[in-house]
Amino acid sequence: MDFESSRWIWDGVYYHPHLLGGIMVTATLLGLSTSYFGGIGGSGFPYLLPDLKLFHKKRHEKKRVRVYMDGCFDLMHYGHANALRQARELGDELVVGVVSDEEIVDNKGPPVLSMEERLALVSGLKWVDEVIAAAPYAITEEFMNRLFYEHNIDYIIHGDDPCLLPDGTDAYALAKKVGRYKQIKRTEGVSSTDIVGRILSAYGDAKDSKDSGPSIQSDADHVTKTSTDKNDANGGHISHFLPTSRRIVQFSNGKGPGPNARVVYIDGAFDLFHAGHVEILRNARQQGDFLLVGIYGDQTVSELRGARFPLMNLHERSLSVLACRYVDEVIMGAPLVISKDVVTTFNISLVVHGSVSERNSFLDGKADPYEVPRSMGIFRMLESPKAITTTSVAQRIVANHEVYVKRNAKKKASENKYYSEKKYIAGD
Ligand SMILES: *[C@@H]1O[C@H](CO)[C@@H](O)[C@H](O)[C@H]1NC(C)=O
Repeated sequence: MDFESSRWIWDGVYYHPHLLGGIMVTATLLGLSTSYFGGIGGSGFPYLLPDLKLFHKKRHEKKRVRVYMDGCFDLMHYGHANALRQARELGDELVVGVVSDEEIVDNKGPPVLSMEERLALVSGLKWVDEVIAAAPYAITEEFMNRLFYEHNIDYIIHGDDPCLLPDGTDAYALAKKVGRYKQIKRTEGVSSTDIVGRILSAYGDAKDSKDSGPSIQSDADHVTKTSTDKNDANGGHISHFLPTSRRIVQFSNGKGPGPNARVVYIDGAFDLFHAGHVEILRNARQQGDFLLVGIYGDQTVSELRGARFPLMNLHERSLSVLACRYVDEVIMGAPLVISKDVVTTFNISLVVHGSVSERNSFLDGKADPYEVPRSMGIFRMLESPKAITTTSVAQRIVANHEVYVKRNAKKKASENKYYSEKKYIAGD
């Protein structure tokens, strides 16, 4: 591979092992090669892994503006992705602090996703340049100084919702005072609380109902799960998601495959986008030059998994997939069976599928949706590096049902307050 074609690997996030909150997190934790985290060495950066072979980009004449944003990124969704996209627009390089498991336990209760999974998700976002593992939950003065002087951060970014320290003071007061604070607009329509609600109502109902098997019926009321959701006690919710074409454009790369590009195709539901998805997309992208992702329509997912699914509708799932740095393009509402026409239309060179998937029943001799690419000799099964599935993530929440119902009730109250009091704020 020449330098240009391997650039996308080197464009990956920088990663800095850090001793914060008493735990050392290294790149191996993610099971990723260190070269992936090596990236192009930023000149003078103090935390580059010493044993990496680094490409050295020529020094920039103009100082690049470095911005910092942190978060728990538990049950990461396109709202987080959009916040980081907006943060990235306020600078040239985005450094993201991922709050440690311990700090989340102390402040909000147990996280659903482990640090490793949360890191994989955040690192997989195309707007993220560097990750600081195990960031503190609340920005202390000491940590802020570290951001400014060790990490060369110019601005700390936060959403427009107030963030208070335990003593009731503004967590960003100091950064504001020194003029190094910038605000972004909160992304409407989704929150982790909202997603937990969807999971609890989908799986809670499935558990209670006798005929919980996949049923094919009109699921118009499940697609967006609006106020008709009867199971409010279980955390049912009113969706505030308003799909716009503008958001899709903001998340898109806007580029087609270049001449002679090898187009790789992978399809799936990509519901409740998780670390396993990031890993398989990374693997898929490495098989060629352009990754096209086919995302099944809502009705297709319902037919496959039951009327309560998908948990996230097609537009939401598309945003999550588009936010992934390994994805070049998506088909919104891809067919279940890959026909010769699909292969020709998109000039697909290779169709891949992960070994861990909710939909591998064809392996047991059932109708094979990959029959055409298989017969053309362009089908490849990829080893899934992680055994996570949408169901396994959802089941963690269902297993801790009571904890999350309680936590959700509390957070829902504050979210309801937010929605009842909200005013128009310009920005996107
Ligand atoms: C179709 O893909 C192949 C690679 O498999 C590439 O060589 C060819 O140039 C592509 N065709 C067009 C018209 O881009």
